[in-house]
Order: sequence, then structure tokens, then C-alpha cells
Amino acid sequence: MFDLLHWKIRQAFCPFKRAVDPSQWLMNLDAPAYTEPSTPDSILRQKHLLERFPHFDDLPSAWAWVKLESLYQLDQIATLLQTHPIPQGETCHWVDVGSKNGTTLGACVAVAAQLGEKVQITGLELDTFRYYLDGYTRGDYGRGLVKSFAETPALNALGTLDFVEADVNNYAQTHPATADVVSCFLPFVLAKEHTAWGLPKQDFNPHAFFKSVWSLLKPNGVLLISNLSEDEVHAQRQCLDALEADSPEGQGMLRHIEALEIETRFMKCSEERRFLWMLQKIS
Ligand SMILES: C[S@@+](CC[C@H](N)C(=O)[O-])C[C@H]1O[C@@H](n2cnc3c(N)ncnc32)[C@H](O)[C@@H]1O
Repeated sequence: MFDLLHWKIRQAFCPFKRAVDPSQWLMNLDAPAYTEPSTPDSILRQKHLLERFPHFDDLPSAWAWVKLESLYQLDQIATLLQTHPIPQGETCHWVDVGSKNGTTLGACVAVAAQLGEKVQITGLELDTFRYYLDGYTRGDYGRGLVKSFAETPALNALGTLDFVEADVNNYAQTHPATADVVSCFLPFVLAKEHTAWGLPKQDFNPHAFFKSVWSLLKPNGVLLISNLSEDEVHAQRQCLDALEADSPEGQGMLRHIEALEIETRFMKCSEERRFLWMLQKIS
């Protein structure tokens, strides 16, 4: 009850919709964990990633904090694409679910630009009301990125970027089968994570969440997921098994990569591990 009240109060105390210029960000306060490559291995990997995804360099220097975090995500996406490339198309519509303050979007832009002649990137976040110490919210940061994207000629030429403040369960109802790629980096599949991040316990429903996420995909669309721990992998598998069992006749789930365990690069704590998934909707 208290967590629901807390959530409602947080929403109510967020009356302004501002857009913070990314060059004004003091730091990426959601992610102090990322770091510039400093070891020979990480420097080499960065070089490889920039060659493979040259549009990463289109991200303006004002996006320094975004680039720092995005390199870590780019590394993971590149690992997934290494064995299972995503088919290219005219426009790559990429939806990132749980986009936080938008800092996850740099990697999505760079990869989508390799998959389509044009990109249409949508960052979706339910909790845009979280305040930072500088008095701005996640939503303010996300809107700042969208503005900066539109005002940067090299990015504007690539396509569009949106930061949508919504629950994926609602968004999916109005945007079914619209995405070529959907990414969910570290989704809440365990209740303790969901409540620790200040979301009301009664809204915890990972099965409904992944049903909505899956419905966003076009036929042949690809879903990318990362998890944090073996407990999460177990819960993730349960969600996907239930989703598969629920799918209409003739609609398949191809699991190209299932819980691939990797060591993270570009993080301050080098022992961090992630579990990566890549699934495709077949019909
Ligand atoms: C653990 S955070 C991961 C953030 C980011 N993807 C990353 O890798 O750092 C999960 C995010 O998903 C968001 N989220 C949870 N449920 C959601 C929903 N139903 N619709 C949209 N976003 C949601 C949360 O608010 C949170 O920001």
C-alpha cells in the first residue's frame, strides 16, 4: 500500500516537462558504473566496435555520458549479432523498453543505423519521474536527448528518436507488430528488483510485461534481452516458456541465443556478468 502511495506521490511531484541539454549533464547519475576503455583488451574491442558500427561516432561529443554507457551495451549487442545477424531492411524501427533516462539509446542508434537505411528509435520508460540530485528527472534527460538528436545534422539524417513516457502494457495495445527490434536491457523479472527501484509491488507482472513486449514485434522481428544473475535467468525462462505456450497457433519463438553468459567490458567492476538472449518471432 505504502509503495503505491509513494509511486503516486512521485508522479504528482513531477509537474514540469523540461529537456536538459546533454552537454549540461553533470554525470550519468543512473550509471556511475561505466568507464572508458583502459586495458589493451577493452581498447581493442572498442576499436573493433567503432569499425563495425561507425555511426557510433555520429553521436555528438555532448553525449559523452550516453556514449560511455552505450559502449557497454554496444559490446553486448555485437556479441549477439556475431552469430545471428539481424536482416537489413529499409527502415529499422527499434523499441528499447525500460530506457531509463535515455542513456541506453546510443547503442540502439548505432546498431539500427547498420540494419536500415533509416532508423526509427523509440525509448520507452514507465518511471520518468525519478529525480536526480541536480533537480532534473529521467524524463527531462530523455527529452533532452530527443531534442539534441533532432538538432544534430548527422543524427537527424539517420532518422528519428523518440522518448516515450509510458507503460509498455499500454503502449503495446496501440503499437502492435510495429518493431523490427525490441531490446530489454535488465528487465524486472524478480519482484525484489521491481520494488527496489520504487515501482508498486501490485504492478509486478513479468508475464504480462513480456506478452506486451513480444506483441510489439513484427513477424520475423527480433527481441534482445539481458539479465543480471542466474536467478533472473530462471525467472526469464519461465516468462518466455509461458509466452511461448500462450502464443497463437502458427506463431513461433525461435531462440537463437539463450542465456549466454558473458563477462562485461567497459564497467568499473570487471567481474560483472550478464546473460544475453536473442529471440525471433516466426509466423
Ligand atoms: C533495471 S532497469 C534497466 C534500465 C536500463 N534498461 C539499463 O539497462 O540500465 C528496468 C527499467 O524498466 C522500466 N520498466 C519497468 N516496467 C516497465 C513497463 N511496464 N513499461 C516501461 N518501462 C518499464 C523501469 O522503470 C526501469 O527503468
